[in-house]
Amino acid sequence: MGAETTSFLDSAIMLLYLVATSFFILGIKRLGSAATARSGNQLAAIGMLLGVAVTLFDQQILRYEWIVAGMVLGGLIGAVLARSVAMTSMPELVALFNGLGGAASALVAWGEWERVGAAGLGPDALVTIGLSLLIGSITLTGSLMAFGKLNGFITGKPITFPAQNVLTVVLMVGMLVASGLFAWNPSIEMLFWIILGGSLLLGVLTVLPIGGADMPVVISLLNSYSGLAASMAGFVLNNPLLIVSGALVGAAGLILTNIMCVAMNRSLLNVLFGGFGGGDSSPAMEGAGPATDMIIKETSADDIAIQCGYASKVVIVPGYGLAVAQAQHVVKEVATLLEQKGVEVLYGIHPVAGRMPGHMNVLLAEADVPYDQLYDMEQINSEFSTTDVVLIIGANDVVNPAAKSNPGSPIYGMPVLNVQEAGRTIVFKRSLKPGFAGIENELFGAEQNQMFFGDAKKSLQDLVRALKENE
Ligand code: TAP
Repeated sequence: MGAETTSFLDSAIMLLYLVATSFFILGIKRLGSAATARSGNQLAAIGMLLGVAVTLFDQQILRYEWIVAGMVLGGLIGAVLARSVAMTSMPELVALFNGLGGAASALVAWGEWERVGAAGLGPDALVTIGLSLLIGSITLTGSLMAFGKLNGFITGKPITFPAQNVLTVVLMVGMLVASGLFAWNPSIEMLFWIILGGSLLLGVLTVLPIGGADMPVVISLLNSYSGLAASMAGFVLNNPLLIVSGALVGAAGLILTNIMCVAMNRSLLNVLFGGFGGGDSSPAMEGAGPATDMIIKETSADDIAIQCGYASKVVIVPGYGLAVAQAQHVVKEVATLLEQKGVEVLYGIHPVAGRMPGHMNVLLAEADVPYDQLYDMEQINSEFSTTDVVLIIGANDVVNPAAKSNPGSPIYGMPVLNVQEAGRTIVFKRSLKPGFAGIENELFGAEQNQMFFGDAKKSLQDLVRALKENE
């Protein structure tokens, strides 16, 4: 091949990498709104296909058998998972994907180190190999721990032992020092294995003390790590597409982590080291029950049907319980019946309602709820004062007034939905037990509030029946 042809091919490859990168960026941009998310996902998938094809060409692969076999097998597994995994299990699937991404980056670093050998690698290559190995290995074991906690293989309670945080910090510093030494003097082969082993252990140690219910934040952070590891692997392989796409994942994961922390009014350090949110058995929840001085008013499906039938505006506030009960389709049925009666129906979505980012949006989209009826917290908070009835379905912490009124509350300062400004609030849940934060909710005993106890799906089905009877 002549020099001219080679330089033309190099330019074409760089151009195609740029096109693939643009597809990723446009894809992420479109993922920002529910209405364009599907096309965003497709754009990013096309970018990925283009990226893989160009990379294979760029690397002048000699034998394709293993690559084709891997693509077919991976594609099959992906297709089966996409169809079979329940929406509520999505966070654990993402955890697994992150872990595999981290493992791939660590393996790339390992492979390059074996292939070229310490003597052939410059300090810049050694720095990126060390970092890829470090971040990739932490991501692998950290993600496996997160997967285990969500899946129930490992207890959701924070697992702690004396001097754990000190050990973690010492190990973290030790690994950074080892990576620096590795780049400086790679002939000490032992350093490679120390980084590998220490980082795998670090991944376990950092996730063990975090409660199961905080896993979405941890998974988002690990997602960011997997992007950084991929970016480092891009430097190892001198592949610009991998560098950019890894950096995009790293930045997106970090932004999402920050959004979740801000929405919960907690710092990342508090999530990582606070031992908060041990799932249903968190210490704060033990012995929790109805407050002795709260006067609880119960209501029935028939009564709610009458109240909503006379309303001009009803806001539905979904929460984690809606996902547990899988009541999204019935909630849509209730909204449709109300709209047929001339009632305006809106949905108020808190950014951390449920257990993963966008949980409620995804659930309601599954039931074909129109996007323009989904109001985020800022938008809906200005609607409550003109709302007649708020139906709070399986939501608890996100409507807890203690976040505003009780400085001693663990959720004090967390922005919440101001449902109390509405004429009437009706809470659909099974008991008076607290939600994720493990704290009592004064809204349940508030003057304008009524409780409708029971599984959300069953309660909403009763409401559908009552609304139809009232027609
Ligand atoms: P929660 O405060 O957790 O309350 C959910 C309520 O749903 C529970 O009180 C429960 O009461 C009820 N419930 C459960 N199963 C039900 C069923 N089958 N039918 C009816 N009700 C049912 O939920 P939320 O208001 O959505 O708030 C989310 C919480 O999770 C926040 O504290 C947030 O900080 C935290 N969190 C969120 C995220 C993300 S990214 N979304 C990440 C980490 C943490 P009963 O048991 O009495 O039925």
